[in-house]
Amino acid sequence: MTEFDGDVVIITGGASGIGRATASLLHSRGARVVIADVNGPAADELAAELGEGALAVQVDVSDSASVQHLITTTVEQLGRLDVLCNNAGFGFRGNVTTIAEADWDRLMSVNVRGVFLCSKYAMPHLAATGTGRIVNTSSYTSLVGIADRAAYVASKGAVTALTRAMALDHVAEGVRVNAVAPGTIDSPYFGTMIAEADNPGELLDELNGRAPMRRMGQPEEIAEAIAWLASSRSTFATGSILTIDGGSSAW
Ligand SMILES: NC(=O)c1ccc[n+]([C@@H]2O[C@H](COP(=O)([O-])OP(=O)(O)OC[C@H]3O[C@@H](n4cnc5c(N)ncnc54)[C@H](O)[C@@H]3O)[C@@H](O)[C@H]2O)c1
Repeated sequence: MTEFDGDVVIITGGASGIGRATASLLHSRGARVVIADVNGPAADELAAELGEGALAVQVDVSDSASVQHLITTTVEQLGRLDVLCNNAGFGFRGNVTTIAEADWDRLMSVNVRGVFLCSKYAMPHLAATGTGRIVNTSSYTSLVGIADRAAYVASKGAVTALTRAMALDHVAEGVRVNAVAPGTIDSPYFGTMIAEADNPGELLDELNGRAPMRRMGQPEEIAEAIAWLASSRSTFATGSILTIDGGSSAW
């Protein structure tokens, strides 16, 4: 018997970075995982790599019909839904004067509307188990703010606030809602940014310097925290925002 035996877990953005590490960890601990990602081929590849107990579903979390398809496919094929990890998201540079309106709207539709839609359509199934769990991937920037990331910081502020609101709204149904607030994590998102930078060494120093630990975190270090919040070892936690950031929010 392993920790997540019998549990069905959806991980949005599950094909890369933090989501990929989470899908791999939960699968290794006995969960049946649904790798839900807009990048269908990458989700298929990971599901094939993990083997039995892993299902790939292509989804755009900002699109209602696509999200409803994800939830019905999961329940039809795997019979239940125990955990939803709302992890899909992205960011870009800019302040309110430089960010284009369309870019703001797109980011909000994925980072915030995506959490709303997935939670909305998953909630009846999570409640039906009596012990449903939602784990959102927020960010330490929702707690302290950083420069030149206005849309991203605003979106993660909304995710942190929505986590607390959903925790209160669904406590009576037995659904616990928590979030991780990662610091700067060495995911493919930053890997690409570093590779394409004019001065990669300078950017790497800047990213490592964001934390008192003077390094970026690894996706696996966030997956451990998501796994704890998704497990029956955290039964008194709801509405929690768990910072895992090398001390960035302590500065
Ligand atoms: N990397 C960091 O430093 C960091 C820090 C704090 C929080 N986060 C958050 O962690 C989460 C995962 O980020 P990551 O660093 O692993 O990034 P990543 O780019 O490695 O992975 C994100 C995944 O989300 C998928 N995705 C993007 N838009 C989607 C959509 N509309 N529908 C479904 N899937 C979609 C992508 O295809 C990708 O597979 C994000 O919410 C991000 O904001 C990241």
